[in-house]
Amino acid sequence: MKRPTRIENADGKLAVLLPGLGAVATTTMAGVFLARRGLARPIGSLTQLGTIRLGRRTSRRAPPIRELLPLAPLDSIEFGAWDIFPDDAYDVAESAKVLERDHIDAVRDELRGVVPMKGVFYPEWVKRLSGTHVKSHPSKAQMVEALREDIRSFVRARGCSRAVAVWCGSTEVHSTPSAAHASIGEFEAGLARNDPAIASSQIYAWACLKEKVPFVNGAPHLGCDFPAAAQLARENGVPIAGKDFKTGQTLMKTAIAPALKARMLGVRGWFSTNILGNRDGEVLDDPGSFKSKEESKKCALDWIFEPDKYQELYRDLFHKVRIEYYPPRGDAKEGWDNIDLFGWLGYPMQLKIDFLCRDSILAAPVVLDLALLMDLAKRAGFSGTQEWLSFYFKSPMTAPGLYPEHDLFIQLMKMKNTMRWMIGEEPITHLGNEYYD
Ligand SMILES: NC(=O)c1ccc[n+]([C@@H]2O[C@H](COP(=O)([O-])OP(=O)(O)OC[C@H]3O[C@@H](n4cnc5c(N)ncnc54)[C@H](O)[C@@H]3O)[C@@H](O)[C@H]2O)c1
Repeated sequence: MKRPTRIENADGKLAVLLPGLGAVATTTMAGVFLARRGLARPIGSLTQLGTIRLGRRTSRRAPPIRELLPLAPLDSIEFGAWDIFPDDAYDVAESAKVLERDHIDAVRDELRGVVPMKGVFYPEWVKRLSGTHVKSHPSKAQMVEALREDIRSFVRARGCSRAVAVWCGSTEVHSTPSAAHASIGEFEAGLARNDPAIASSQIYAWACLKEKVPFVNGAPHLGCDFPAAAQLARENGVPIAGKDFKTGQTLMKTAIAPALKARMLGVRGWFSTNILGNRDGEVLDDPGSFKSKEESKKCALDWIFEPDKYQELYRDLFHKVRIEYYPPRGDAKEGWDNIDLFGWLGYPMQLKIDFLCRDSILAAPVVLDLALLMDLAKRAGFSGTQEWLSFYFKSPMTAPGLYPEHDLFIQLMKMKNTMRWMIGEEPITHLGNEYYD
């Protein structure tokens, strides 16, 4: 990744295209519509509310991130979406029951204006849904072309100068890269022969990369995390990022675990369970989709605790993650963690976390930040995997052979330093010895 010599201005409108018009997508859209009319605040969004320190602590320079970086303003966003059901964003927001009626009705016209384009859907990848609003082309290669045409038509019709895409669709069943994912050539041959190893989400990712549209994967399945996609992203100068928005339980896990490790406290067991009752919860009730989520949620602790290096503290850690579909709760998820830890001389202690959160309320600012930062990355000339955005993901994508950084505070420092570095400011190491000379 090269330091940019210049970053193109955010002139014109930005198309934010979301495959999957469900609870997260509509909560994001409604929030942006409300915020730009001054009817609500974009709480949780670092790009909208965060500041960034520059230079020495004594210089007291800490401008808002959105003033320092040439980010697209909220007013310039045009939302588009694909879904496998035809309901517009107003109807989806109403049935998702995340937002209060007052909030939805205040931006009714804008939400009504987001009508999903027909989705690409191979049902073996999401077993709990049977889509009715789907494209029917004989080959996956033709599906890619149809999505590319959707992107071009949307950008043209709305007069946008650029586009980004963030996968907000359902979680697909767990899979690993196959021979068809190994290179651009193999993937294109796979698309042409309808290779069953190619998932719907990968078809969207491919169409976006072909159109030079940055692609973010907010779900735990592969999406754009396979060698051919990384190759095409580099070749076409397009940023990619994923996987799986880090929002509730894993956000807490990747804040608490580094604290325990920092003090060299041992952990014997970490049991995490969730109840949620939205459509995402219903999809995750399928063992294949749950497996994708489980893998994504489980990996953080191993990387943070490094049991090989700290054997006496973490070698025997028993880590279990459960997700229970429980309809009465809707989007108001509850995530419990029980942590069995031990300290000085091995004496046992317990820590309990009960996070009564709201899934889509936590995810919406992440979608917005990622859309704006990926657009910035593209204008800064970055391409391929954007590891500096790991802060937002449960299962961050990295360059081949590089282990992912899960510690929330290292991720934040890395992201802010990348922001400083890309505009020619000095990264901050927090060494601070100069104050004592
Ligand atoms: N809310 C969170 O905190 C959070 C955190 C991490 C990840 N996620 C992920 O974000 C995604 C969206 O979550 P949600 O709560 O909005 O789910 P949701 O079920 O409300 O919405 C998903 C939408 O995707 C659509 N869809 C499925 N397959 C599609 C396809 N091939 N093409 C187009 N549309 C398709 C579904 O019809 C549905 O409308 C899920 O994968 C979820 O696991 C959410």
